[in-house]
Amino acid sequence: MRLMPGKWMIAATLAAFGMGSAIAGDVAKGREKADQVCAACHGKDGNTPIDPAYPKLAGQHADYLARALLDYKNEQRKNAIMVAQAKGLSRADIDNLSAFYASLPGKLSHRR
Ligand code: HEC
Repeated sequence: MRLMPGKWMIAATLAAFGMGSAIAGDVAKGREKADQVCAACHGKDGNTPIDPAYPKLAGQHADYLARALLDYKNEQRKNAIMVAQAKGLSRADIDNLSAFYASLPGKLSHRR
C-alpha cells in the first residue's frame, strides 16, 4: 500500500514519540554540544543553572527534553531565550542532547 506524505509524517511522529519509545541519541555527541552551548546557562552538570529560574535538565526523561526542544524550535513553546537556542539544533542534535541530559544523575526522576 502506498502511503500518502501526510500519513508518513504521522507514522514518523509516532515512531519518534509513540508508546514510550526511547530517544536513540548519542550521549557523547550530546555532551560535546552541551558543553559548548547549553552549559553556559544550565550548568555543566545540568543541575547548576546560572539563575535559579532556569530549569535543571539532569535526569529529566529524554522524551520530555526532546519534546521541549522541538516545541521551542517550532515555536509551539514560547520563550525568547530557548527558541533562539533551539532554532539552530538539528533533529540529531536534539536527540543527542536529550540522551546526554537524561543520562546525568539528577533530582527530577527516580532511578530504579
Ligand atoms: C542563555 C541561556 C540558555 C542557554 C544557552 C540554553 N538554555 Fe535552555 N533554558 C533557558 C531558560 C531560561 C529556560 C526556561 C524557558 C521557559 O520558561 O520555557 C530553558 C529551558 C530549557 C528546556 C526546558 C526544560 C523543561 O523542564 O521544560 C530545555 C530542554 C532546555 N532549556 C535545553 C537546552 C539545551 C539543550 C541547550 C543547548 C543547546 C540550552 N537549553 C541552552 C536558558 C538557556
